[in-house]
Amino acid sequence: MILIDGKKIAAELREELKQEVSELKAKHNKVPGLTVILIGDMAPSQIYVRNKEKSANEVGLKSEIIKYPEAVEEKTILDKIEELNKDDTVSGILVQLPLPKHIDKQKVIETIAPSKDVDGFHPMNVGNLSAGYESSVPCTPLGCYLLIKKIESNLSGKKAVMVGRSNLNGKPMAQLLLKENCTVTITHSRTKDLKAECLEADIIVAAVGIPELVKGDWVKKDAIVIDVGINKTDKGIVGDVAFDEVSKVAKALTPVPGGVGPMTIACLLKNTIECFKRSR
Ligand code: GUN
Repeated sequence: MILIDGKKIAAELREELKQEVSELKAKHNKVPGLTVILIGDMAPSQIYVRNKEKSANEVGLKSEIIKYPEAVEEKTILDKIEELNKDDTVSGILVQLPLPKHIDKQKVIETIAPSKDVDGFHPMNVGNLSAGYESSVPCTPLGCYLLIKKIESNLSGKKAVMVGRSNLNGKPMAQLLLKENCTVTITHSRTKDLKAECLEADIIVAAVGIPELVKGDWVKKDAIVIDVGINKTDKGIVGDVAFDEVSKVAKALTPVPGGVGPMTIACLLKNTIECFKRSR
C-alpha cells in the first residue's frame, strides 16, 4: 500500500512555487500578494490563518491578515473587499469561513472579484469550472486532485466516487475528475447503498465529516482512497476513512493528518500565483 505523503508532496509543491515566485519577481519586479480576512477569534480559524501566512512567506508571497472583531458590521467587510478588489498589490483575497451569523456568506463571496477569488467559491468560478473553462479551483479538491495524479497520471475511464456533495469539496472534485475523463458518481446522505457505490470505485474521495465512515469492506482492491475528513474523537483526530482497515485493501491512501491538509494550503498559494499571472 502506498501511503500518500501529503506533507512531503506539499513541501515539493511549495518549493516549485517558491522558484516560480522568484522568476515572477525578476520579470515583473513584483510578487503576488495574498490578503486574508479573519473575523472573530475561533481557534481553528486562527490556526489555519497563521499556517497560511507562514506558508505564504515561505514561498516569497506578500501576505497580509486583516482581523476584525466578531461583532463587525457586514458593510465594513464588504467595503474592505471592494477596496482590496481595486488594490493591484493584492492578487488574491480569502475570507476565512465560517463567518458570524449576522454576516451573509454568499454576499461576501460574491463581492470578491472573481479574478481574485483564490478559494474558487464565487459563482463565476464555480460556473467556469463546471463548463470546463479557466477558473480558480477550490484549494482542497485541487490538492486531492494533485495527490491522485501523483499515484495515477492517466485517469481516463476510471470510476470515481465522491462521498459527500459539498460546494467546498464533492462538487468541484467531481468536475476535476470529469475533466480527466473519469466516470463520476456523487453520493450523499440520501444515497441508497453507499457501500455498494464505494465498492465500484477505482477512486474514492471522502469528505462528509463522519469519523471512519468508509470501511475496509467498502473498498475495492487497489482503489485510490483520499480522505478529506478531519474529525475530533475520543481517539484523537481521525478522517472519514477507517484507516487501518482500508490500508489493507487500497492501492494508495492518504493519512489524517498529513494527507490532504498540507496540500490545501499549498494550493492556496498556487491559486494566488495563478491569479497574479492571469492579471498580467
Ligand atoms: N475555512 C475552512 N476551510 C476553508 C477554505 O478552504 N476557505 C475559506 N475561505 N475558509 C475556510
